[in-house]
Amino acid sequence: MQLIDGKQIASEIKKEIFEEVEQMKAEGKKVPHLAAILVGHDGGSESYVAHKIKDCQEVGYTSTLIRFEEDVTGEELLNQVEVLNNDADIDGFIVQLPLPKHIPEQKVIEAISPEKDVDGFHPVNVGRMVLGIPSFVSATPFGIVQLLKRCGIETNGKNCVIIGRSNIVGRPLSILMSHKNINATVTVAHSRTKNLEEVCHQADILVAAMGVPGFVKANMVKEGAVVIDVGTTRIPAPETKSGYRLKGDVKFDEVAPLCSWITPVPGGVGPMTRVSLLLNTLQAAKNKNRYV
Ligand SMILES: NC(=O)c1ccc[n+]([C@@H]2O[C@H](COP(=O)([O-])OP(=O)(O)OC[C@H]3O[C@@H](n4cnc5c(N)ncnc54)[C@H](OP(=O)(O)O)[C@@H]3O)[C@@H](O)[C@H]2O)c1
Repeated sequence: MQLIDGKQIASEIKKEIFEEVEQMKAEGKKVPHLAAILVGHDGGSESYVAHKIKDCQEVGYTSTLIRFEEDVTGEELLNQVEVLNNDADIDGFIVQLPLPKHIPEQKVIEAISPEKDVDGFHPVNVGRMVLGIPSFVSATPFGIVQLLKRCGIETNGKNCVIIGRSNIVGRPLSILMSHKNINATVTVAHSRTKNLEEVCHQADILVAAMGVPGFVKANMVKEGAVVIDVGTTRIPAPETKSGYRLKGDVKFDEVAPLCSWITPVPGGVGPMTRVSLLLNTLQAAKNKNRYV
């Protein structure tokens, strides 16, 4: 069994980005600039955005954090999106989700210029991704594909089973895995899937993206399979500094001995999700005026 060290791979990619940014500076070019809009004070969202800003600093990007209180109106938020769309200095921006219930989330996503949509959530980017033409791909599926590539994992003709069909993980990943540069045969499983154990047992590459801690057990995994655990459920752990531990969807101890490759949680998919946003932002800066 080999561990897929997402932390190590992400740190290598960050080093490559840092070097590219240094090169941009040496050539007198503007460095990439990412902006993030954060609404309210949800602990999870605060920490995700803080990580994104820190990542930008580490690779030499400019970053801007724009905060709104929980009671911001949809109109105020849409106005801010428009300001960022028209700000030539901003290469890409994200609106941290979820938004408060009174804000029409999809409307906000669709207000973002596709060429600045480095989260890859705008329907134009999703559509382009489906067609296999240049687009921003949402960070987690993009990160998983990078992990497979960087580990040299064979995907051609392999059976890939993805448990989960969300718009940010399972569904886009299923499209990417079926593209001609990856060539997997893909099954998307979900809560209505029958005989899930049997379906999973057919997988050469099994991706668990459900948010149900410890769901995937040894009896669901074929000997020699590659297992990617996307799940990150916060379990209270008062003894830790953060007050919680992250738990994956896979029972690591019993599944790992069966696998050819497996991601840990934490330290697998999570760091790759973070680095993918940096890659998309770099691409946005390079694309400027040459996209769509
Ligand atoms: N590491 C990272 O960077 C990263 C990034 C994003 C998300 N995550 C984590 O990944 C997990 C999934 O996130 P998400 O946003 O995709 O979640 P989501 O929107 O809640 O989707 C979960 C999916 O899992 C399916 N599912 C749930 N219980 C199931 C069961 N018992 N059997 C079969 N399928 C089941 C659901 O099926 P239905 O569609 O039928 O309801 C749904 O399609 C969460 O733990 C999240 O925190 C991690």
